[in-house]
This record gives sequence, C-alpha cells and structure tokens, in this order.
Amino acid sequence: MAKITAGIGCSHVPAIGAAFDQGLTQEPYWKPLFDGFEPARDWIRKHKPDVAILVYNDHGSALTLEMIPTLAIGVADEFKPADEGWGPRQVPVVKGHSALAWHLAETLIINEFDMCVLNTLDVDHGLTVPLNITCGKVDEWPFAVIPIPINVVMFPIPTGDRCWRMGEVIRKAVEAFPEDLNVVVFGTGGMSHQIHGERSGMINRDFDTAFLNDLTRNPQRLRHIKHEEYTTLAGAEGIEMVMWMVMRAALGDNKVREVYRHYHVPASNTAAGLIILENDDLHNPKPAGKARAARPKAKTKAKAKAPAAARPGRKGKVPAKKAVLKKAIVKKAVVKKAVVKKATGKPSRGSKAATSKAKVAAPRKTVKVAKKVPSKKPAARKSAARSSARKR
Ligand code: DHB
Ligand code: FE
Repeated sequence: MAKITAGIGCSHVPAIGAAFDQGLTQEPYWKPLFDGFEPARDWIRKHKPDVAILVYNDHGSALTLEMIPTLAIGVADEFKPADEGWGPRQVPVVKGHSALAWHLAETLIINEFDMCVLNTLDVDHGLTVPLNITCGKVDEWPFAVIPIPINVVMFPIPTGDRCWRMGEVIRKAVEAFPEDLNVVVFGTGGMSHQIHGERSGMINRDFDTAFLNDLTRNPQRLRHIKHEEYTTLAGAEGIEMVMWMVMRAALGDNKVREVYRHYHVPASNTAAGLIILENDDLHNPKPAGKARAARPKAKTKAKAKAPAAARPGRKGKVPAKKAVLKKAIVKKAVVKKAVVKKATGKPSRGSKAATSKAKVAAPRKTVKVAKKVPSKKPAARKSAARSSARKR
C-alpha cells in the first residue's frame, strides 16, 4: 500500500533558482540560505521517497489569466520546465506518476473536489525551486512528482480550510492505492512576502515563526487563518501559505514530528522557510486496520477542538501566537543586496492578454513580478540587461 510518510513546507522564491542556475550559492548573500538546505538534502537521500505530491502555484507561466483553475492536478508522465521569460531553466524534466495521479484525481472528484485535470503542464519556479532546494543539482530528480497547482494568484482563492480538507482526501486516496509507495507531500510558497505596492518587501518574522511552530503544536489554528489575516500580516503573497495546509492535513490527525527547520531572511523579497515533518506513524506504526477504523472519530475530535483553540481572547495554550495575529509586526526586509534580480522580471507567455484582462477584472495586481531593485552587483546587472534585452 502507498503511504504518506512526511510533509515538507518550502518557499519557492524564483531568485533561489536563479542563484542556483548561475552558480552563486556560495556568494555571501546566498550562502547562509543555501547552507541551511543541506540537511534537507541529506534527509531526502535517507528517506528515499518514491513520489512527491507537490502543491504549488503557477505564476502565469502555464496557467494564464485566460483560464484559472482553482484546483488542478497534473496526470502526465512528464512535465517540462516552463519558460518564465528567459528560456526554460536547465533542470531535469519532472517525471510524473500517472497512475497515482489519476487515482488522486478520481478520489478527489468523487469527494467533491472538482479538479481540473491537466494532461500537459509546464512547471515553473513554484515547483522546480523546491525540488532544487531539497535535491540539489541533479541529472535526474530522485522521485516522481504529481503537481497540484492551486490558484493563489487571482482572487477568489481557496481558503486554508478548503486546502486542509483537500489534504485529508489526498491522504485517504494515497492509503487506498495498492502499490507500495513512499509518498511525501510538499506545500510550497510563502513565507511572509509582498512583491508589489507600498508594502513591497514586508516581512513578518513573528507571524512566520508562529506558523512554523503551529504546524506541529496547533495546526487547527493555521487551518482557520483567513485570507485577510494572511494578506495583512504576511503580505499579499504570503497567502501562498494556504498551500501548506494541504501538506499538513495530508499527514493526518496523528501527531507529526518536526525533524528539520530553516528560516532565513531575506531571500529576494521573501522570508524563506523550509520545514520537514515526519508522520508519527513512521515511529509508532498503528496495527493494520486500527488506523483506518479510528479515522472518523479522530477527525470529529479534531474538528470539535478547532474553534476553541482558535477562539481569540480565550486563555489558550499559545498566547504568544495569538498576540502575533492581533498585532502585525510588519518590517521591511533588507532586500536590496540580492545578487540575482528580476528572476520573474519578464512577463510570461500569455501574460500580455493576462495583464490587460487583469486591469478590468482583477481586484489587485495579479501577475507577480519581482521588485525592480537596482543593484550594483555585476551579475545582477547582467541578468537585468538580458531580461530587458529580451523585452525589446
Ligand atoms: C518572489 C517570491 C515568490 O514566491 C514568487 O512567486 C515571486 C517572487 C520574490 O521574493 O521575489
Ligand atoms: Fe510564489
């Protein structure tokens, strides 16, 4: 039987991919961030997943504003790196797991998550950067990947709670798949960041820390964070963190163990977070049959608990985190020294139409582009020049 053994929360900052591609990982700006990825790579080498279900958002690369699937799943045998404006990244083609992907699609749809089924999908930095972070530079990715793109770019965006419930169905689906597979689930995006407007460059370390803590201590609080809280406290693009809820719920109601965490500011305009959670079943396997039988009860219990744990003003177990929710501590990140600029500087394929449509339909700027910060570093100038040359 297939089994979800671990979850990984991981930022997907495009400039991390660019630093990787341009061999800049040992530059003073990037080294502390990249050093913190090493233990995750060791963990992947030891853990040897067969398949990763990778929840991410496309950034106008394959899914433009012409069609906006809220929830989608890639069922193909392979997914090519997308052209995000300066040619596809030179990273391996991503191999899919079509049989499990179709099984997930079917189970999700029967359980009323109406997935958009993608027979072809070019995958952008949202998917390839977390693979680089956890696998390094490789000739071939060490596991198959089932991409689950979720729209977090254009409102209306699904809630964290909806993402949570989707994760619960994914868990059930994987457990019912007959092949013996070691499956991990990635939730990507975040952490706090905003890449446009007045608050561009904002970071909220306290919000992020409480979020990382509560993945193990109080995930029900995270499940009920509203869009307004994300955008106010974690920035407009911090809302990407709803996708981590799919990952956390897919680990089940049982306890999870945090086995690794790395948090670093700044990474481009973003607070970069990486966390690995192991499913407690790994350490304390339940006797076969019992786990399944216990599921509905455990689920009800967790649900009943949720409002109390999340209720504001009540004496709870996590006062520090509540304070974080009440009081936005919004700081400008020190972002101006990033070596790699304009990682998403050029609008992607289809985004001309997307931009003009966005003017009519979008309640906020919808196509994400990296902040244009002039840099004194030669590499940055080169990349900016290249990118603007392509525009002409
Ligand atoms: C940045 C971060 C993102 O998550 C993204 O999708 C685009 C840009 C940034 O920090 O520049
Ligand atoms: Fe993003």
